Amino acid sequence: MKALLLNASPKNNGNTARLLELIGDAFQKKGMETQTICLGDLHYAFCKGCRSCYQTAECVQHDDVQLVLEQMEQADLIAIASPDYWGGITGQLKAFIDRCTPYSPAHQPHAALSMGKRGISIALSAREDPRECKEILARIDRFFQRMGIRPMANYYTCGVLTEDDLNNNEGKLAEVTFFGEEIAKTLVK
Ligand SMILES: Cc1cc2nc3c(=O)[nH]c(=O)nc-3n(C[C@H](O)[C@H](O)[C@H](O)COP(=O)(O)O)c2cc1C
Repeated sequence: MKALLLNASPKNNGNTARLLELIGDAFQKKGMETQTICLGDLHYAFCKGCRSCYQTAECVQHDDVQLVLEQMEQADLIAIASPDYWGGITGQLKAFIDRCTPYSPAHQPHAALSMGKRGISIALSAREDPRECKEILARIDRFFQRMGIRPMANYYTCGVLTEDDLNNNEGKLAEVTFFGEEIAKTLVK
């Protein structure tokens, strides 16, 4: 059982990274293999809107997007975690989703991941109001559905602006670890 943990923050050492680290640790304790990718570490261009992929099911641009898609293909479970940026997902994640248009079922032919993959959406915000996190989760789940990935669970946490807000909060750290353990329990018998 292999899990791909996709960090949609530009930062590979911030709060999103910490949440995914705890979830990944819980997965590994159950014997799952994990791989973490931070979109902020990658280089990829915006979708040009050329619609070539509507005819070819392939993107005309070749960059790190293909690398992420290859890792998605190899994973059984894909977790995508985004911090709240202006009430929604980060620009890095939106740009990545747009580049997945060769996989969009809105046109034929289209590329497709193998069937049977499951998805976990994760969101975090500085504000205490959960509404924006819920929008982020819905956005990620919509992406999963269009990619043929079945959403299986989600997790969000509010009130985390700085790294200290998360790391000094034992309750939040325990909660996200518990979330990871519960997912692993469901997947690994
Ligand atoms: C450009 C930017 C925009 C943000 N917009 C929001 C926002 O609209 N609402 C909110 O609650 N937090 C917002 N935040 C706070 C982040 O969601 C929060 O600090 C999060 O913990 C950052 O995760 P990271 O350390 O993994 O990048 C914003 C942060 C940045 C840098």
